[in-house]
Amino acid sequence: MILDVKAAQRLDSRGNPTVQVALKTAHGTFRALVPSGTSTGVHEAVELRDNDQRKYGGKGVLTAVNNVNEIIGPALIKEGYDPHRDLKQIDGFMRELDGTPNKAKLGANAILGVSMACARAGAAAANIPLYEFLRRESGEESPYVMPVPFFNVLNGGKHSSNGMAFREFMIAPTGAKTIEEGIRMASETYHVLKQIIADKFGVIYTCIGDEGGFAPPITQPEEALDLLTEAVAKAGYTDKIKFGIDPASASKPSVLEEAEGAPNAHWDADDIRTPNQMMDLYNSLIEKYPIPLLEDSFAEDDWESWTTFCADCKEELVGDDLLCTNVERLRMAESRRACNAMLLKVNQIGTVTEAIDAAKLAKSLDWGVFVSHRSGETTDDFIADLAVGLGTGHIKSGAPCRGERVAKYNRLMDIEAELKESWKPWSYAGEQFRKPEAF
Ligand code: PGA
Ligand code: ZN
Repeated sequence: MILDVKAAQRLDSRGNPTVQVALKTAHGTFRALVPSGTSTGVHEAVELRDNDQRKYGGKGVLTAVNNVNEIIGPALIKEGYDPHRDLKQIDGFMRELDGTPNKAKLGANAILGVSMACARAGAAAANIPLYEFLRRESGEESPYVMPVPFFNVLNGGKHSSNGMAFREFMIAPTGAKTIEEGIRMASETYHVLKQIIADKFGVIYTCIGDEGGFAPPITQPEEALDLLTEAVAKAGYTDKIKFGIDPASASKPSVLEEAEGAPNAHWDADDIRTPNQMMDLYNSLIEKYPIPLLEDSFAEDDWESWTTFCADCKEELVGDDLLCTNVERLRMAESRRACNAMLLKVNQIGTVTEAIDAAKLAKSLDWGVFVSHRSGETTDDFIADLAVGLGTGHIKSGAPCRGERVAKYNRLMDIEAELKESWKPWSYAGEQFRKPEAF
């Protein structure tokens, strides 16, 4: 039984307000903090902001907070829901209470905070860890698989101000045996990379972007991938660490227009590339570097380019803003053969149940599922449990640096330690991150 639901306005990793929910049951008080993106896809559920310019530059979330305190909380208590067995019903009830297709009335940030807190309360009532509770909710039965972490160690686009049009360059320790080893390999490589950047460009360029990656003064993807190749080799992990790229080209016709949002963009109007030219670029990068994962390669409604590129793409092609963790968008993408993997961001859709449903649908289509943080994060480590619970095989949570990023990696190491000590069979996804054994 839910005894009390209280929301409050707290801060995210960029210092902007976000929603915190504290939900009380007989088993204790369970908190959740909601993340927030930069390039929010147009098909995402609505993040309610107050738009009162006198406070937090209009970014306050007091309306969403009030919606929890005055509408959602009292209604859930009145209905007598029990998070232990009713998460699906609770999430469905909140959707109906909102009544809009994209949670615009009560706010996805209000609804998601309650949904996450309910999942935690449900796990506590069942006396099991959150990852096990989420696994039960999803109906997954195969052995646990620890995900390969993808660390965004070089930041560009709107996450930094260096003029690099591509937004994320990730390193993934696919050759590790455990997540603990993978995190060590990535952390060591990150520090080697820092030294290389300091030596090449000056120590001032070891400042970091929103997701903890460095933002040296480079503009071309090859320059970034050469830096990563050098760092991985110096750290001694050639062949054991692979790369992922996220140009964040969704919501813009090309990655170069995305760069216009960043101060000092060097890829200017003379260097705008067509989707076909971007395909050539991606293909040449994939040929030259070990890149098994490419995310957000075209604009979110540029179905034609997605479909054309996907037809011959052997690597994992992940839809982020294209899909928005939304089953309807997944079905559209499937019918067009537009991608072969889904990025899973819970706040894109706004309830835990709908995020699980999207992941289940993706798996049933034989797609990869890549769990993701947002660039505006919090210390809430919910997604670590989600990745293990759903057996998604991979997760991205930024660099191995910044508290809100490492909170997830630390939680993953805790989960792995717990699994090691338990009777439960488990493995590390490694090279099989797209379709881990547990699938
Ligand atoms: P976001 O994107 O800035 O919209 O959260 C982050 C990502 O794709 O990693
Ligand atoms: Zn993305």
